[in-house]
Amino acid sequence: QKGVLVQVKVGMVKPCGLMKPCHLVKPVSATRVSGRYLTHQRGLPGLPVPPLQQTCERYIGALEPIVEVDELKHTNELVDEFQKAGGIGERLQRGLEKRASNTENWLSEWWVQVAYLEYRLPVVVHSSPGLVLPRMNFRDKQGQIRFAAKLIAGVLDFKTMIDNETLPVEYLGGKPLCMNQYYEVLSSCRIPGLKRDSIVNHAKSSRPCKHITVVHNFQFFVLDVYNSDGTPLTSDQLCVQLERICSSSPQADVEPVGILTTHHRDSWGKAYVNLIKDKTNKESVSAIQRSIFTLCLDGAMPRVSDDTYRSSAAVQMLHGGGSQWNSGNRWFDKTLQFIIGEDGTCGANYEHAPAEGPPIVALIDHVVEYTRKPEMVRSPMVPLHMPRKLHFNITPEIKKDIEEAKHHMNTLAQDLDMRVIVFGHFGKNVPKAHKMSPDAFIQVALQLAYYRMYKCCCATYESASLRMFRLGRTDTIRSASSASASFVKAFDEPGKQNTEKVDLLVNAVKAHRSYTNIAISGQAIDRHLLGLKMVAIEEKLPIPAIFTDTAYAKALHYRLSTSQVPSKTDCVMCFGPVVSDGYGVCYNPMNDHINFAVSSFNTCEETSAARLARAVEGALLDMRTLLEQTPRAKL
Ligand code: COA
Repeated sequence: QKGVLVQVKVGMVKPCGLMKPCHLVKPVSATRVSGRYLTHQRGLPGLPVPPLQQTCERYIGALEPIVEVDELKHTNELVDEFQKAGGIGERLQRGLEKRASNTENWLSEWWVQVAYLEYRLPVVVHSSPGLVLPRMNFRDKQGQIRFAAKLIAGVLDFKTMIDNETLPVEYLGGKPLCMNQYYEVLSSCRIPGLKRDSIVNHAKSSRPCKHITVVHNFQFFVLDVYNSDGTPLTSDQLCVQLERICSSSPQADVEPVGILTTHHRDSWGKAYVNLIKDKTNKESVSAIQRSIFTLCLDGAMPRVSDDTYRSSAAVQMLHGGGSQWNSGNRWFDKTLQFIIGEDGTCGANYEHAPAEGPPIVALIDHVVEYTRKPEMVRSPMVPLHMPRKLHFNITPEIKKDIEEAKHHMNTLAQDLDMRVIVFGHFGKNVPKAHKMSPDAFIQVALQLAYYRMYKCCCATYESASLRMFRLGRTDTIRSASSASASFVKAFDEPGKQNTEKVDLLVNAVKAHRSYTNIAISGQAIDRHLLGLKMVAIEEKLPIPAIFTDTAYAKALHYRLSTSQVPSKTDCVMCFGPVVSDGYGVCYNPMNDHINFAVSSFNTCEETSAARLARAVEGALLDMRTLLEQTPRAKL
């Protein structure tokens, strides 16, 4: 069936009556049981529940570099009490093991609820990552439209692989990965709620939608992207349609309804109820939610110099620049939004609840490659329906909500400091030549940079993939370790010999790589501790003292929130800090350079994205120099 558009309902199999379906997916239909996708998924192991004692020991180890000695002593006592024979820890562990045997993945549903759908800060900056692609070589409206048409065709090409289940299975460390996230990113949308949000995935409906939404000058359109025979529209056809959209949406004094999606989730939840009271509005919102994805044809952004181009493109992808620029030219609840400016800027923004960066980037890598190929298909000579404009009736109350959302968005835009840098001195090649994991090398450099700025270590989060397991999402690699602390403290000590520093560096890198292996094999501590706490909450048991301890709060206060998102395309993902006095650091290590996106909040006087970015560059260079100046025999 390759090449033929077949819509397949995606669902998680319920192999036995005990299985609870994943929150995001409907029970499987009979047609899917023999699917390649399901066969693959069924072959994946379930997420393990790590041994209680192992997690307790590792938790204490993880606290060592980030809490005071007396705090650690106190936590040690609490942990002993928690894990003692016949204690609360054992009871919670049994509860978790029971859940693991009754669900496809004991964590995934809780994780989506706790980390995303119950998280009430705006998705903009606080949750949804942006992605900056290399600047394309068009500089006008015509070029913008032509590129956008090609990009849509590229996404539809990728969608065909999803629909036909011909996506190649991915591997990490030689192990096959869960492919579920690919089935969650198209035709899906987050829906605001009063206390918690939800996600709808229309790819799984019996009549999946055949349209995308396009937004231009804050005005939304439904664009059908399939011909009546089921073939996708060609780039030429899409070009014609996008031109029609642009000419029927001139710059005008329209209310930027999309800005509502930038609001605090509780406020947006309330505003949403109000917005969709009107039938026309409800239909328009539903068309956006059901669409395959959203394409944002952006207006101008503030002019910047070539040096700061990438940082300003990152801002455009992350939040649109504020209400006077492009923040209203979005529907941030939409899982996938492609963003194209007239000046060659392009990228994406995605709502994080259904997926991590790597599947999004794999899709985008495919699309970028597709846009570089010449068009192979001739356009059919059939008249195309005019794209349908979506209307909104703006009542005074809705207008008030829009004004409020604008105000908050502009405050947030003012607050965010974003620096994208290309570290051009080396990439994965140098650590590899020194027989070191490049990711671990970069993480240790981040630790050194932070220590040089603050003279202390901080709780550091790096995402580790749990996709070796069915419906796996992420766990945390705690990059601040005792080994990294020893290295960073010694590095600028004048009395230390280089050979000793190299030993400490090698240890730190090894410790990081070892934690990575622990994390990707489902044996890290953070999701396990969360799971134990969730059992206590669900079983209405008193919350054990280890979770109300200040050390636990410190461990979760990630001043460095980091993630590696590698890609074939020379791009970089970006996100905001997760705490008010912290940094968001996303990086893409290429062979001979590394793209970094570093963010912080201007309202925090202690942080500065530019300073950390410079400190990371310095740390990477100094670590290379150290390795080069120290005789190899010592390695
Ligand atoms: N000597 C020489 N080469 C080495 C090496 C060593 N000691 N250790 C690793 N390498 C090589 C690897 O073989 C690999 O080679 P490749 O470039 O040919 O693929 C390369 O260096 C990269 O390995 P490493 O830097 O160790 O990282 P990784 O690719 O294993 O990735 C994680 C580590 C943590 C990023 C990855 O396991 C992961 O979990 N990724 C998902 C993160 C995620 O979900 N992010 C998004 C959140 S939104």
